[in-house]
Amino acid sequence: MKIAVVTGASSGIGREFVYQLGYFYRSLDEIWVIARRKERLEELRGKTRVPVRIFDGNLLKKSVYKKIFDALREKNPNIRMLVNAAGYGKSGTVEEIAAEKFRIQTDMIDLNCRALTRMTLMCLPYMRKGSRIVNLASAASFCPQPSFAVYAATKSFVLSFSRALREEMRGKGIGVTAVCPGPVDTEFFDVSGPLENRLKKLALVEAAPVVHRALKDSRAGKSLSIYGIPMKTAYVGAKLLPHEWILRLGSPK
Ligand SMILES: NC(=O)c1ccc[n+]([C@@H]2O[C@H](COP(=O)([O-])OP(=O)(O)OC[C@H]3O[C@@H](n4cnc5c(N)ncnc54)[C@H](OP(=O)(O)O)[C@@H]3O)[C@@H](O)[C@H]2O)c1
Repeated sequence: MKIAVVTGASSGIGREFVYQLGYFYRSLDEIWVIARRKERLEELRGKTRVPVRIFDGNLLKKSVYKKIFDALREKNPNIRMLVNAAGYGKSGTVEEIAAEKFRIQTDMIDLNCRALTRMTLMCLPYMRKGSRIVNLASAASFCPQPSFAVYAATKSFVLSFSRALREEMRGKGIGVTAVCPGPVDTEFFDVSGPLENRLKKLALVEAAPVVHRALKDSRAGKSLSIYGIPMKTAYVGAKLLPHEWILRLGSPK
């Protein structure tokens, strides 16, 4: 049985992957979808070319991993693609966020880094030559970001992990692509807080073209997927300019 596994499938970028995957990989038998909101996952039924199998649960808790682990052992599928899209960000200084709710930042690390790593380790034994991993990093991974410090650091982890894993997997023919979007119009901002920066507002894009680009880049074996000229420019800028300068521009004081 050939499957794709998508975390964060109940909304935004993850959900868009679920919609598009069946058209990119026509031989898929099922897409296994993971998120907390079961009713949202149920809504995917009938809207996708490939049937979905639902794993509702919190990736910060053990029980959902047990369900996925047991299903993998029972079905022994050939995982053609793993998409790690579950994640969130929270804007504000480290102190401001801690004053609001202490655990927001540590849970962010646990979801964006720990859960992504755990899902990857769990799925790797079921991946073969030609299988692909797509990890949602962010343009925030290019440089430290004051007022988005923990989020940007988690996404640097995702980028670094993905690039190194790609090299480790080269011999096995398993591809790893880190997707680094700028602002994408999803429910992300319900949690992170609204986009206030005018430049970032101008750079806002829809999820569909970002995911289309990511699937093409993953198929082409690229290590990075960066959609659109503004984010490509940001990537090159963060390579060329001293980070101290960029940090000063983004500093809250
Ligand atoms: N939108 C952007 O501007 C942007 C830019 C760059 C990178 N990204 C990254 O892209 C990824 C997808 O974000 P998005 O924009 O699609 O945001 P979104 O619409 O808020 O989707 C986030 C997804 O993660 C799931 N999720 C959150 N907490 C979870 C938990 N504890 N356990 C299981 N699932 C959980 C949510 O489902 P439930 O709530 O149902 O659990 C939802 O499906 C994230 O990693 C984000 O950091 C987003």
